[in-house]
Amino acid sequence: MTAMPPQQPDTQAPSARDDATTTEQREGKQVPDGAPQQSSRPATALRRVLITGATGEIGGALARAYAARGTTLILTGRKQRKLDAIAGECRALGAEVECTVLNLCDEETLFTWLDEVCAQGVPDIAIANAGMNTDIGPQGNGERWEDARRLLQTNVVGTFGMAHHLAMAMKARGSGQLVLLSSLAAWHGLALTPSYSGSKAAVKAYGEGLRSWLKPFGVGVTVVMPGYVTSPMCEAMPGPKPFEMPAEQAARRILKGAARNRARISFPFPLNFGCWWLSVLPAGISQRLLGWFNYTH
Ligand SMILES: NC(=O)c1ccc[n+]([C@@H]2O[C@H](COP(=O)([O-])OP(=O)(O)OC[C@H]3O[C@@H](n4cnc5c(N)ncnc54)[C@H](OP(=O)(O)O)[C@@H]3O)[C@@H](O)[C@H]2O)c1
Repeated sequence: MTAMPPQQPDTQAPSARDDATTTEQREGKQVPDGAPQQSSRPATALRRVLITGATGEIGGALARAYAARGTTLILTGRKQRKLDAIAGECRALGAEVECTVLNLCDEETLFTWLDEVCAQGVPDIAIANAGMNTDIGPQGNGERWEDARRLLQTNVVGTFGMAHHLAMAMKARGSGQLVLLSSLAAWHGLALTPSYSGSKAAVKAYGEGLRSWLKPFGVGVTVVMPGYVTSPMCEAMPGPKPFEMPAEQAARRILKGAARNRARISFPFPLNFGCWWLSVLPAGISQRLLGWFNYTH
């Protein structure tokens, strides 16, 4: 694990947490016992944005989208070279950047790193973006269990662990925005990628639960459910890929929705609408529809 120390802040920048905390205060709502009445952050604090999987397509696009003067980006990935390249692009856009190479499945290293990050300043926005996919293979023989287990450790255990750790820190401070990457594959299990669908359904439900729990404490939680976004992961995915979009476009939608503390950011509309129906129709009908649209083996 390698980390570079952050530089001192010199300007104030707005953050997504402002939406979450000031809405409560503006509406004069009661906050429960133990909930901080206001953020303990100094008014001059910089915006700190943490993004996991910054070496990936969506993570890299998110890093560039958030990169600006007045922002400190805390980026992670497993590929040092790629991470350095993204960091360089973000610095050129005016951001301060801290880079750390780490594997989300290494819980001890993950929590130690998160403690170090929070000691410098709890992030204002944390995006749990890192993730992986696996599938049943071209012959439909089934997922390799080693791959499925690694997927669950990354997409579920790593993501939940990070979100939990940061939720506690944000709750104690009384502000922050957690953004969790789920997928439209969470609306209904997909035969080609059963573990992936299951992991993203878990992230969706967890994020929704966290949101309700953390709302009175001034912490926002947003669940992101993208359709097909051009990336190595998307390319490796079997099955049709309608309405595929570039990562930059997805990043802009995520940034805008997170800044508004939206509960759910799901896109593109036609695919989201179709997939949503799969979750509300009787399961037998949904499975028949998936077959008609070539989503079964
Ligand atoms: N692309 C899509 O169509 C799509 C659709 C819906 C949801 N999503 C979700 O969006 C997120 C980003 O996907 P993407 O398309 O940008 O994929 P990607 O380009 O393949 O990037 C995946 C990122 O996750 C990191 N990662 C994977 N396993 C890790 C681990 N064990 N520890 C730490 N980092 C790990 C990778 O790091 P290294 O490359 O450095 O190893 C990489 O930065 C994922 O959660 C994915 O499920 C994607």
